Amino acid sequence: MAILDIEGVSLRYGTVQVIWDVSLSLEEGEAVALVGANAAGKTSLIRMISGLVRPSGGRIALFGEDISGRDPADIVRMGLSHVPQGRFLFPHLTVRENIEMGAAYLPGAWQAMDRTMAWVIHLFPRLGERLGQKAGTLSGGEQQMLAIARALMARPKILLVDEPCLGLAPIMVKVVFDALGEIKKQGITLLLVEQNVWKSLKFSERGYVMENGRIVHRGASAELLADGKIRKAYLGL
Ligand SMILES: Nc1ncnc2c1ncn2[C@@H]1O[C@H](COP(=O)(O)OP(=O)(O)O)[C@@H](O)[C@H]1O
Ligand SMILES: [Mg+2]
Repeated sequence: MAILDIEGVSLRYGTVQVIWDVSLSLEEGEAVALVGANAAGKTSLIRMISGLVRPSGGRIALFGEDISGRDPADIVRMGLSHVPQGRFLFPHLTVRENIEMGAAYLPGAWQAMDRTMAWVIHLFPRLGERLGQKAGTLSGGEQQMLAIARALMARPKILLVDEPCLGLAPIMVKVVFDALGEIKKQGITLLLVEQNVWKSLKFSERGYVMENGRIVHRGASAELLADGKIRKAYLGL
């Protein structure tokens, strides 16, 4: 059974429709890639799933429960966290304070703080070495790690990650993908939006391709990687 099941959702910003009849599902433990050009609607779709914008139509079910229009904090409590495009860190707070923010919505999370913190620092040792440093002084790659670490503090079962490698040096791209691999190994289900289509399809088991607000291809990542149209449009091959 799908733990996240999106059926026929649409989204309008005012009078402008940006998402049309999108269906997508996640099975427990899988990594799924959502790829598409700029402005295809990927971020809007992810923000709809985490309750930050309300769908204009369709249905979103999380663990079998309809969450359309639900408060974002409730959705975090149900086990879904979101690493937003652009990171949205608190630059004047320390790394530790930013990480702790991720536990803010979760009853009981403050008591489990030390244990959860130890877990995320084990995933991102670089953050452990910089707990007292202001987030705004971190490198881009370190800031991305911090954004992921913060989302993990809510102990999610599903993690939505939006463009984690945007603007990162290749060495940091590898660090981020290694960390995502580790997160997946822990059994966390991943929906990954990433400009690096090659890497994200290599990383995931399944993928969806979005164009102009619609899902135009879906399938096993290996099949998408082998598809001539996709290779031409997204991989420049
Ligand atoms: N808050 C908003 N208000 C109005 N239009 C928006 C808003 N956010 C995004 N859009 C528009 O929605 C479309 C999809 O954007 P977005 O979801 O950010 O795509 P992607 O993440 O694939 O680049 C774009 O045309 C963008 O300009
Ligand atoms: Mg985006």
